Amino acid sequence: MQERQQSKRKLLFLIVFIHLLPQCLGRPQSKNGRYRQTFEEVKREIAGYKDIAKAIIDLAVYGKAQNRSYERLALFVDTIGPRLSGSKNLDTAIKYMHNALKENGLENVHLEPVKIPHWERGEESAMMVEPRCHNLAILGLGNSIATPPEGITAEILVVTSFDELHARAPEAKGKIVVYNEPYISYGETVQYRSQGAVEAAKAGAVASLIRSIASFSINSPHTGWQYYRSDVPRIPTACISVEDAEMMARMSSKGMKIVVNLKMEAKTYPDASSFNTVGEIVGSKYPEQVVLVSGHLDSWDVGQGAMDDGGGAFISWEALSLIKNLGLRPKRTLRLVLWTGEEQGGVGANQYYQLHKVNISNFDIVMESDEGTFMPTGLAFTGSDKARSIMREVMQLLQPINVTAVYENGGGTDVDYWVQDGVPGASLLDDITKYFWFHHSNGDTMTVQDPNQMNLCAAVWTVVSYVIADMEEMLPR
Ligand SMILES: *[C@@H]1O[C@H](CO)[C@@H](O)[C@H](O)[C@H]1NC(C)=O
Ligand SMILES: *[C@@H]1O[C@H](CO)[C@@H](O)[C@H](O)[C@H]1NC(C)=O
Ligand SMILES: *[C@@H]1O[C@H](CO)[C@@H](O)[C@H](O)[C@H]1NC(C)=O
Ligand SMILES: [Zn+2]
Repeated sequence: MQERQQSKRKLLFLIVFIHLLPQCLGRPQSKNGRYRQTFEEVKREIAGYKDIAKAIIDLAVYGKAQNRSYERLALFVDTIGPRLSGSKNLDTAIKYMHNALKENGLENVHLEPVKIPHWERGEESAMMVEPRCHNLAILGLGNSIATPPEGITAEILVVTSFDELHARAPEAKGKIVVYNEPYISYGETVQYRSQGAVEAAKAGAVASLIRSIASFSINSPHTGWQYYRSDVPRIPTACISVEDAEMMARMSSKGMKIVVNLKMEAKTYPDASSFNTVGEIVGSKYPEQVVLVSGHLDSWDVGQGAMDDGGGAFISWEALSLIKNLGLRPKRTLRLVLWTGEEQGGVGANQYYQLHKVNISNFDIVMESDEGTFMPTGLAFTGSDKARSIMREVMQLLQPINVTAVYENGGGTDVDYWVQDGVPGASLLDDITKYFWFHHSNGDTMTVQDPNQMNLCAAVWTVVSYVIADMEEMLPR
């Protein structure tokens, strides 16, 4: 017994030793039998891209491609305009990009069909009729139902939070609930837009008006999608400006009775046919492995959708254009996807994920730029610690333009499906506060875009996607 245990222990030791041996030699073995490089080797490999990174930066920022993504975007949004899910404009935009990617000489350019929501706001208005007449600036929220033709006329109840609404629920019955929630961050505050109507309806309200989710305001309403619940009555809902929300809050705190007439013609049509738009540079060595760069082509129906997400879509296209201009072909496939139906909850991206997740082990990294293309400050990244260390090295290649930071929480609505399943995700970080000045408002026009800032964003996006696509090994998960 004793003896056998001892020899067993010896055997165990030997097995453990054999397993550790490759690591002791600095060569941990990967699952598929190839040897994984040590971090030092990866670091050297990445440093070897210095000249290519420099060439990308020179071309994008100072060379022949200077301002190209900006000029392409301006032509696109000025001729097509905003691109609401289900609209003719969005159809036109997809056809336009399908042609443009083919003309640019990208490979495997194709459209992948997907059904997307089709909601239209129609005519809409809100008038404060007591204690004085005042026209409120509104934008109906996506998915809202209409009011009767004569509108809904009711007294308002102003609350600053869901907690206050719940505490004052008996007062809400038959009223229009006005949310004057403070802006904390988009992520925290957006629940008032997406859930505000449901919460107000639970308390018996007849409509809800939500202070726009915006970091700054010059009386502009900011729209966005909102969700009903099947077990709660549907009430019309719109966003109002920060200024009007604060004014009505001040007035009601003085005990004034405020009455509003809200008219909305909003209508939901059957789901529309649409497409995700795809183009590639096929990998030379591992063509089945994919680095995905993306932005969404749809937008809200206000402004021009130049920032959200024209900028992100066009620097993603620019990444493939720059690689082509330089005559480069990475080992892995660089795949550009321009999503449809993002604003309605990542509808195109969800279908793409469902259809392609069978190949998830071949997705190296998923990248989406959907938080502005202003002066870039770095890359936001989600992935393992090992992958993060690699990304830090890759970002060192951007020293010449001083954009080297790696932040937490990379991803975006359209790529989070993959990130949740463990695929590393990245997004471009810039001045996010500025982004929410214009987001989903009539202020989202070409005027907020800057050619030099877009050049820098394109350089970051291109260096990162190219180097990851060309490295010998995929990012560790
Ligand atoms: C790019 O835009 C900047 C800023 O508007 C301008 O100064 C520069 O001349 C432009 N470059 C080209 C090649 O058009
Ligand atoms: C999965 O990858 C293989 C190899 O690249 C490809 O032929 C196939 O079409 C892919 N399947 C899907 C559903 O994307
Ligand atoms: C480089 O970027 C950092 C961080 O954004 C900033 O603090 C620094 O001033 C920049 N340096 C130059 C030379 O622009
Ligand atoms: Zn967006």
